[in-house]
Amino acid sequence: MNENPEIFKAPSGTKDILPDEASLWQFVEEKAKEIFSAYGYRPIRTPIFENNSLFNRSLGEETEIVKKQMFLIQRQKETFCLRPEATAAVVRAYLENNLDKTESFLKLYYTGPMFRAERPQKGRLRQFHHIGVEALGSSSPYLDAEIIALSQKILQGLNISGYQININSLGCPQDKQKLSQLLREKLKGKLTKLCADCNQRFSRNVFRILDCKHAGCKQVVNELDLQYNDYLCPDCARHFSIVKNSLNRLNLNYLTNITLVRGLDYYTRTVFEISHPELGAQDALGAGGRYDNLIAELGGPNLGAIGFAYGVERLLLVTKLQPQSFAKGLNVYIISLGDAAQKEGFCLLNALRGQNIAADMDYEDKSLKAQMRRANDVKARFAALLGENELTKQVITLKDMRTGNQEEIPLNAFVDEIKKRL
Ligand code: HAM
Repeated sequence: MNENPEIFKAPSGTKDILPDEASLWQFVEEKAKEIFSAYGYRPIRTPIFENNSLFNRSLGEETEIVKKQMFLIQRQKETFCLRPEATAAVVRAYLENNLDKTESFLKLYYTGPMFRAERPQKGRLRQFHHIGVEALGSSSPYLDAEIIALSQKILQGLNISGYQININSLGCPQDKQKLSQLLREKLKGKLTKLCADCNQRFSRNVFRILDCKHAGCKQVVNELDLQYNDYLCPDCARHFSIVKNSLNRLNLNYLTNITLVRGLDYYTRTVFEISHPELGAQDALGAGGRYDNLIAELGGPNLGAIGFAYGVERLLLVTKLQPQSFAKGLNVYIISLGDAAQKEGFCLLNALRGQNIAADMDYEDKSLKAQMRRANDVKARFAALLGENELTKQVITLKDMRTGNQEEIPLNAFVDEIKKRL
């Protein structure tokens, strides 16, 4: 046997979520589910891996995710990938299960891990988690406003403030085409001022130049003087104006940002991003938008759709909620001294649990002091002490861990007494 085995480490860009923090995660997921349900969204779960071609087709061959960040799995002749996002998978499930025919309009939510082979840094992981929604089968601009309002509701529910909601419209595919031509015209004389990546993007995916982080590129983008009139068709302009008016009516604060583009090709019309200054370089808490062509592109009918997703890790970086306050304590910790007490305690423990009372005890014959310390550590509401003395008298000494008060309770009334006091 190896005398000094090396301790394994989790792969870089992944994170263990230990019990205190996991309780906070549960709270975040429960809160999100409660809010999603109030808006009429129902849960969906799709596989963690999908056929690679699903993402190539829907996210776009030229996107950073498809080009550089896919975790691929080769099995004989098939290529799968760990899902980098859930929108494409949800649309696939919608079509594969004929939901477009049975319930053409469907509001769905999901939570779960996503995978992108990125260079890890603060707020950027290789396995991270989304909570998100997709509303499939409608092109109404009111749905866009609802979705943006819903995304804000989640932040309020998680005690997050100081965020900024940015919205934009990319228009329909024809408008996007116009916009990309317009961008190329405006940028072609300025290529020397753009970084090497943006020079590549110029011919491959000119939209991405708009959200390059390099100072020089940002400067060029700021001077572009883009105007919606130059590329949004009347229908898309009307759609965008209803979205904005509806948000105004809800008193929702947002900024219109004409240079906001998203790193995925499927977006059309409304796109939005929620950023937070405390996140640093990776400042997007969440993002979403319309993808009116994706359902048709994946073989379905011509139906509109919109959704968004938050990165849970990023939400947790800015929430004021404290992990410790979500760690639930036990109701009762049984302290037993000696063999006979342990035997009796073991039965009482079982009786408590049978009544759904959270309880535990020590099996290691620890000292009274050590067991008492443990009762404290597990945040027990009551410690119940069973020693030789108690056994002779057929009682148990119950200590209220909040007040420190102690009293003896007959063994045969113990479970009922605990039930009364909780
Ligand atoms: P996305 O902007 O790629 O959109 O991801 C949404 C959010 O996930 C980001 O705003 C960020 O908070 C988080 N996120 C993304 N990558 C990472 C990472 N490497 N580490 C940590 N967090 C990350 C989508 O994925 C779309 N599917 C959203 C959507 C739904 N659009 C329509 N429906």
